Amino acid sequence: MVATTISAGTSTDPGRDCPLCPRLVDYRTELRAREPDGFNAPVPSFGGPDAQLLIVGLAPGAQGANRTGRPFTGDYAGDLLYDTLLHFGFATGTFLARPDDGLTLTNSRITNAVRCVPPQNKPLPVEITTCRPFLIATMDEMPNLRAIVLLGRVAHDTMLKTLGIRAVTAPFGHGAVHDAGRFKLYDSYHCSRYNTNTGVLTPEMFRAVFARVKKDLARG
Ligand code: URA
Repeated sequence: MVATTISAGTSTDPGRDCPLCPRLVDYRTELRAREPDGFNAPVPSFGGPDAQLLIVGLAPGAQGANRTGRPFTGDYAGDLLYDTLLHFGFATGTFLARPDDGLTLTNSRITNAVRCVPPQNKPLPVEITTCRPFLIATMDEMPNLRAIVLLGRVAHDTMLKTLGIRAVTAPFGHGAVHDAGRFKLYDSYHCSRYNTNTGVLTPEMFRAVFARVKKDLARG
């Protein structure tokens, strides 16, 4: 069953010192001491709430979003993601891997399943659950939302839970598209350096997902 109203009554972004996940608070504290000039806080979504497309990643990378404060900015995963968004007109400008590069998103928005950087890039199930209300609130404030690209299994699973969709009815697979009421869900392997270096995900495979999104949105 797909929830038609998703409302958490939560703000869209955790505060800078969000206390909800003790392990992530400890890691944040450690990183703040180690890299005092970094962002080192829950990373807010990038892009406006009017967008039709929402892209959901895993969590900020230690050397990327957690350092720069913008999702997928500063690590390899962002190079492929922003290059693809620019290619399909979902972004304009030039991606320079820094939050002041002037890049803007067009009809798209990027968020993460978990807003804080996790050790070893692996959030615990309880942390994914604890952060879900922020994802729900983010979607809730997007009246035009139609297409949701899910980067990796964690994003896929948390979205199914968010929408009340049974996992057996919507298995994860690269290129899979699932109907979810007023939304369509588009699965993709995560654009991590590991996946691209090992050939699990090629730039062509990644582009194919966004080509489908573009076509579906144009159809109305
Ligand atoms: N950076 C992010 O913001 N999210 C990811 O999933 C990976 C890198």
